[in-house]
Amino acid sequence: MSTENPFGIDFGGSGIKGAPVDLETGEFAGERERIETPQPATPDAVLGVLVELLGRFEDSTAPVGLTIPGVVRHGVVSSAANIDPAWIGTDADALLTDATGRVVHVVNDADAAGLAEVRYGAAQGVSGLVIVTTLGTGIGSAMVFDGIVVPNSELGHLEIEGHDAESRAANSAREREELSWEEWAGRLTTYYRTVERLFSPELFVVGGGVSKRSEEFLPLLDIRTPIIPAQLRNTAGIVGAALAAVEHGR
Ligand code: BGC
Repeated sequence: MSTENPFGIDFGGSGIKGAPVDLETGEFAGERERIETPQPATPDAVLGVLVELLGRFEDSTAPVGLTIPGVVRHGVVSSAANIDPAWIGTDADALLTDATGRVVHVVNDADAAGLAEVRYGAAQGVSGLVIVTTLGTGIGSAMVFDGIVVPNSELGHLEIEGHDAESRAANSAREREELSWEEWAGRLTTYYRTVERLFSPELFVVGGGVSKRSEEFLPLLDIRTPIIPAQLRNTAGIVGAALAAVEHGR
């Protein structure tokens, strides 16, 4: 195994951001670089960005982790709710490893955030089941039991009151429908009550860009389970991707 710092890359709707990560501390071990997400963000287009991004850093043989907002099994992407459908069926690990000459592992974006929050952030040291949710364009979820992520839980796609949950309760729904914080908190209450009834977690952690405004909506939720904002905020994707790259296959 390489002793260099692994590299994490966060593939988001507007930017693809990457940095080497010091896994001792969970902090970046170098400057973060960002490139606009190509439109459409097909596998080939993202691959081009990845090559350019890695080229901005010194030559390294350390593994690379990349977040994907979809289901990932054995490196193959099998859902694309909010990304280009060309990802479905793509063996992203193989494609990106061949193209970059680095060992690349892809990981679901929410699972990456979950790994990072449990290792370094809000859920550090919490035993039992922690559910990390990310509220953004969609709703991402990571189920973490005693520090181990059970991947691809996809709890944003629970069907609640006849709707795909994320279409009503994601932050994009709040923006699109111009919901007040109170109105959105009502929808989130319905959402988190459903999840707590099904899984009885010890703790919910809420990430995604809107979590920096958590004091506007978390106190308005009426649920039984403790719910707290994520701590790593916009570094969770990169840090979790780097962790996943190293822990892959362990
Ligand atoms: C996708 C998930 C992803 C989440 C957050 C959902 O629409 O199905 O895989 O984690 O959005 O990006």
